[in-house]
Amino acid sequence: MHRTLGVCYYPEHWPEDRWETDAAQMVANGLSWVRIGEFAWSLMEPQEGVFDWAWLDRAVETLGKAGLKVIMGTPTATPPRWMIDKLPDMLPVDAEGRVRKFGSRRHYDFSHMGYREEARRIARLMAERYGNNPHIAAWQIDNEYDCHDTTLSYSDAARTGFQDWLAQRYQSTDALNRAWGNVFWSMQYDSFDQIDLPNLTVTEPNHPHVLAFRRYSSDQVVAFNRVQAEELRKHTDAPLIHNYMGRITTFDHWKVGADLDIASWDSYPIGFLSDRIEGTPKEKQFYLRQGHPDNQAFHHDLYRAVGRGRMWVMEQQPGPVNWAPYNPAPLPGMARLWAWEAFAHGAETVCYFRWRQAPFAQEQMHAALLRPDAEPAPALAEAAQVAKELAAMPDVGTAKADVALVFDYESAWAWDVQPQGADFDMFRLAFAAYRGLRRAGLNIDILPPDTRDLSQYKLVLAPGLMQISEALQSALSTYKGIALLGPRTDTKTDELSIPTPLGPHLPGVDVSVVVTESMPPADEIPLEGGGAFLHWFEHLEGTAPVRLKTAAGQPAIMGSDTLRYLAGWPNDKTFDGFIRELCEQAGITAHDMPKGLRLRETDTHRFVFNYGRNPRKWGDLTIPPAGVHWEAL
Ligand code: GAL
Repeated sequence: MHRTLGVCYYPEHWPEDRWETDAAQMVANGLSWVRIGEFAWSLMEPQEGVFDWAWLDRAVETLGKAGLKVIMGTPTATPPRWMIDKLPDMLPVDAEGRVRKFGSRRHYDFSHMGYREEARRIARLMAERYGNNPHIAAWQIDNEYDCHDTTLSYSDAARTGFQDWLAQRYQSTDALNRAWGNVFWSMQYDSFDQIDLPNLTVTEPNHPHVLAFRRYSSDQVVAFNRVQAEELRKHTDAPLIHNYMGRITTFDHWKVGADLDIASWDSYPIGFLSDRIEGTPKEKQFYLRQGHPDNQAFHHDLYRAVGRGRMWVMEQQPGPVNWAPYNPAPLPGMARLWAWEAFAHGAETVCYFRWRQAPFAQEQMHAALLRPDAEPAPALAEAAQVAKELAAMPDVGTAKADVALVFDYESAWAWDVQPQGADFDMFRLAFAAYRGLRRAGLNIDILPPDTRDLSQYKLVLAPGLMQISEALQSALSTYKGIALLGPRTDTKTDELSIPTPLGPHLPGVDVSVVVTESMPPADEIPLEGGGAFLHWFEHLEGTAPVRLKTAAGQPAIMGSDTLRYLAGWPNDKTFDGFIRELCEQAGITAHDMPKGLRLRETDTHRFVFNYGRNPRKWGDLTIPPAGVHWEAL
């Protein structure tokens, strides 16, 4: 496959006589895709029912004629101001009950049926107009679901929709009362319309009530996306894409992804390091201008799976962003390294965000490939270099892995609702396991929780799964490699209660969690022979062999050669030790990666990336800072 580069462009931000120059310069620098349209509703339909498509027709024509392929965005993340007069109750409401006003973006409620129809309408009109346009080679639906915390809304529309959803799921309030354990604190309901949203309660609301609302809210995102996908499919064969974000777990990406053709995501490595990745101050200082060396890889692997093998980066950070607490510039070379790393993980296309820095409005401090004065910014030359390198390379090969990590969104909601310890977070736990695997230089596939077949993997990790799905149970019952489950795996019912017999329920392995502890970060539980658990520790019972004990003699790992249950959250060094041992037993070659160096293999190439600030040795090679090395296998 020929891998490609692209860029996000806003023709409506620039004088029309500039478009041709911009397009020619994009092509001259080796870019082949351009994404447009996703925030331009107020120009497409300045008043209700009054359309101006002419400017967009000309923009598509100009870009297409220059040789660019267009990704057309539906503009539903930014409904125009007149829409609020028409549908005043479409604005989202925060958990404190305050309306979130017009004046930025994403000011809509996924539950509002009137707005959902407006989204369907604009998607249909765009599909009718551009579905057969030869320059449009892909579509993006909306932009970054959940950006600015917009999955959950506590509006009237959400309450009505939730009640209806509950009535369908439970059929009777008796069944709901039983499922939720509402006898506790006299919380029984007699009719579905008595059930409010789980905000503003005196103390914490009942956990299954909140989990139901999280499930309902995720379903609304899926449905909102689906109506647009349906309209587009009627008029185009081009692939449909959504661009997801980093570390967003509020809706089920597996379900949204099932309605689309490609999963793309928005990669802002330096913004994320500052904004949403845990790390010691020393680590954050070391990676200040590079981003965390495993964050991009994790999301590439996750979204490759969400896209059922098809993954893009729709927005790649080019320079300082405007939205993180601190916004340093990338180390020279990083805009190239990030793109190569995406390709090594299977990305078909990497688009930089954005073509030219806007001198106005909210993101005027956000860098681009061009400066506000249209002079090249540093990332332009790096993008052009990647384009030349891609042209010289036949292909980067297909991603392949011996190791799999199971990741589940419902479990993320369950543990948000019931953390039981301030540091317990699903993404954080899965990412801790993933980082350990990356420090061992391994290739990893991320799998959905209903995976039916594990036979291609030698090692599978499944931490933090609220339940083990039937599909996964059956895959595990015939599995021949090593599966390490836990901590906190399969210890709940579907309604977030404690099952009896106690979980986990592992095929052929008798082990159960009988007591659960969480600890502050400074209080670790030492293990026999070195290493320690932090944050989380489960007391295990059962007849399965104890494979490792804590220093105090309690079981730390129990299970068979194939299926093992891990009782705690290993600290990083302990993860390293476990992974080394598991790899030896599973017949996987593990490495001890020098600080900042990361490996990734495809079926044809080995890539080495230096996320460090200093040159690093890899065998006989010295990789410079922000350096990328590849060799054919
Ligand atoms: C993304 C978003 C873009 C832009 C960018 C800035 O989250 O999709 O529209 O806001 O961030 O970094």
